Amino acid sequence: MEVLQALAGSVDVLTFDHEQVPNRLLETLQSSGANVAPPPAAKLLAQNKLHARKVLGDMGFPVPPFAVAETPADIERFASHVGMPLMAKAATGGYDGRGVWTVSNLDEAADALNEAGGQLLLEPKLALECELAVLVARTASGHTACYPPVETVQRDAMCREIIAPASASPALIAAAEQLAVDVADQIGATGILAVELFVVGGELKVNELALRPHNSGHYTIEGCTTSQFEQHLRAVLDLPLGSTALCAPHVVTVNVVGSGATTPLRDRLVAALAVHGAHIHLYRKDDRPGRKLGHVTVCGSQAADVRAAAQRAAALLEGAEL
Ligand SMILES: Nc1ncnc2c1ncn2[C@@H]1O[C@H](COP(=O)(O)OP(=O)(O)OP(=O)(O)O)[C@@H](O)[C@H]1O
Ligand SMILES: [Mg+2]
Repeated sequence: MEVLQALAGSVDVLTFDHEQVPNRLLETLQSSGANVAPPPAAKLLAQNKLHARKVLGDMGFPVPPFAVAETPADIERFASHVGMPLMAKAATGGYDGRGVWTVSNLDEAADALNEAGGQLLLEPKLALECELAVLVARTASGHTACYPPVETVQRDAMCREIIAPASASPALIAAAEQLAVDVADQIGATGILAVELFVVGGELKVNELALRPHNSGHYTIEGCTTSQFEQHLRAVLDLPLGSTALCAPHVVTVNVVGSGATTPLRDRLVAALAVHGAHIHLYRKDDRPGRKLGHVTVCGSQAADVRAAAQRAAALLEGAEL
């Protein structure tokens, strides 16, 4: 704590790029006068899915039907209302589909309850038409700048592709932007807020929040006038926000996911670099199956070509023989 206090005393603002930073420490720093951005109370909404569902629902935002389960009887009660299958989620600590289980019966749900340590957020498995994500930057003075909503494509509950701009109807896009800005204002977010949305029956539901530069915003590095990382710093420092305009009609990011590839990384990188227009980012993580190891972004004018090129470069990095 002393080290953190000393750091806080020597800087204009404290921010972070990970939600698992303990709120207790941030609250102590904030109460001793440090400028913590985003504020710990807002950050908790990104850290605890159950807390977020309750708070956003109480604020009047559309959220999926949900229940908290701490016993098999709680699961049975919710299932008797909404049926099976259910999505069962750990309230905290989940990411990239870890801590998210699709359960088809009460036995599987009881296993998930054990694995989650005795508490679950339960939801019906919704028929998703698509998933959107909206990045919005908000300064401490309340200025906001919204990026074009993107479509996210998940496999095994993990985000694999980010397609900008989303091809949803103009009315849905406008509603998604308004919803994201309203959430940012209501929760007092500062910095980048990513709002993950479900589209169900033509309507938006808030899935998850992230209060930091987010995977769904990596496309902004090459794809927008101001990257989400620069924008986050502008926002937490209460500086003018940069343009969120796309630099090309279409921008696609494809995540590179560990596959246990055996060919040397250098060979895979050489192959991927030969894909025209591929911007490659590798995170220097050990290659473990199912782990995000990097991403590829491609910008261009033809939606299908841009997506195909990004998919091809990512597949080559994952070790595919193409
Ligand atoms: N109620 C639901 N109905 C249908 N699909 C769902 C539901 N809840 C989650 N999913 C699917 O699982 C994915 C992951 O869920 P969620 O965003 O809660 O988990 P996460 O692992 O914390 O995600 P992230 O990596 O974004 O932090 C969603 O993007 C969606 O594809
Ligand atoms: Mg998510």
